[in-house]
Amino acid sequence: MKRVDDFRLRFGKRELVPIIIGGMGVDISSRELALEAVRLGGIGHISDAMLPTVTDRHYKTKFVSDKQKQYKLNILKADKSIVQFDLAQVTESTHLHVGKTMEAKRGDGMIFVNCMEKLTMNSPRETLRVRLCGALDAGIDGITLSAGLHLGSFSLMEDNPRFRDAKLGIIVSSLRALQLFMRKTARLNRLPDYIVVEGPLAGGHLGFGLDWAEYDLHTIVAEIVAHLKAEQLDIPVIAAGGVFTGSDAVDFLEKGCAAVQVATRFTVAKECGIPEKVQQEYFKASEQDIEVNMISPTGYPMRMLKNSPAIGAGIRPNCEAYGYLLDAHGHCAYIDAYNREVALYPDAKKISVMDKTCLCTHMRNYDCWTCGQYTYRLKDTSHRNADGTYQILTAEHIFKDYQFSTDNKIALPPPHS
Ligand SMILES: Cc1cc2nc3c(=O)[nH]c(=O)nc-3n(C[C@H](O)[C@H](O)[C@H](O)COP(=O)(O)O)c2cc1C
Repeated sequence: MKRVDDFRLRFGKRELVPIIIGGMGVDISSRELALEAVRLGGIGHISDAMLPTVTDRHYKTKFVSDKQKQYKLNILKADKSIVQFDLAQVTESTHLHVGKTMEAKRGDGMIFVNCMEKLTMNSPRETLRVRLCGALDAGIDGITLSAGLHLGSFSLMEDNPRFRDAKLGIIVSSLRALQLFMRKTARLNRLPDYIVVEGPLAGGHLGFGLDWAEYDLHTIVAEIVAHLKAEQLDIPVIAAGGVFTGSDAVDFLEKGCAAVQVATRFTVAKECGIPEKVQQEYFKASEQDIEVNMISPTGYPMRMLKNSPAIGAGIRPNCEAYGYLLDAHGHCAYIDAYNREVALYPDAKKISVMDKTCLCTHMRNYDCWTCGQYTYRLKDTSHRNADGTYQILTAEHIFKDYQFSTDNKIALPPPHS
């Protein structure tokens, strides 16, 4: 019986344990979590979502309050088009977070940054360019492009000196999306170094509609593996979404995948950014407590716990402080939904907005409890304490369980004494 450890992910001469911890914004895939993956010989992601906010928290910068002060007079206005990010500050925060993480790196693995294209930041091309190039300049090992079609993203990095040496990968959920990407980037003579194929059971935003349950990761992976073979393209394929045990991973590795990308099991690791109180909600969740809904202003479906405080919260849009989801014209679907409710209930002290959420604020505050479909199985991965809570795991324990387990077994941690 094979174990994940019998396989290796190869990038040229480099060999890694074929386990990648996926990017989880905003700072859920913390630098501590990524550093553990590296130490254990795999790949860890940090996320570049809302980095000015993240660096304020970790490195005592003042980017958010500076921006809020600058646009204070706009707070009550519906038109947010003047609320722009200072590109120098976006670069500085990227340099700080990526740079400090890379400085702390120990071990044989690699650190990638997950770059969510749908964070359009009121100036999609320019902000994405400085985020991508900032990460390359700060020494990141690789960039995973997520949530978007990535059609122009490679060209935004084309002039960067590290464009051909850093590992660049994309997340796709269909062969069609991959083909579109390949066609669009053909002129750059630069193929992706890896392709993450993310299925419908993943956490975060999904590359499927509300009919996600009709799709199956094995089928999509098989199509993409066959396509690459037919085109004689030797690009590692990485399966993601619902890989819950080492045996699930081996199944994909035996079917031609070079690695797996996993996330949900690490949401209950002590190194993960989610506060422990919220981690207990993840442990407690049953299958009925998880839903895929359309409240994200990105327009993509998102999976989350139904008791997330973000659902139905009618807070004033916080674009002057954050504004990561403002499109090129300063619009965000939450602003429209919020203003509609205020117009309907002008005298209400507190309003509720059910169809959209202020994702920036709620992700920043860990109030949008996004999760993978198998979150309801987390309770089987740990011990229940006498007070009814669950024992928080270490990233090392979870990583090694993926690496060495067989027979669909999940090793429980040594109980707290
Ligand atoms: C809490 C959470 C947050 C996530 N956030 C992001 C994100 O910001 N960007 C992204 O590309 N994927 C995100 N994902 C998806 C993961 O990176 C990963 O590909 C996927 O969840 C793997 O499936 P699994 O969770 O079933 O192991 C997130 C997943 C979780 C569980």
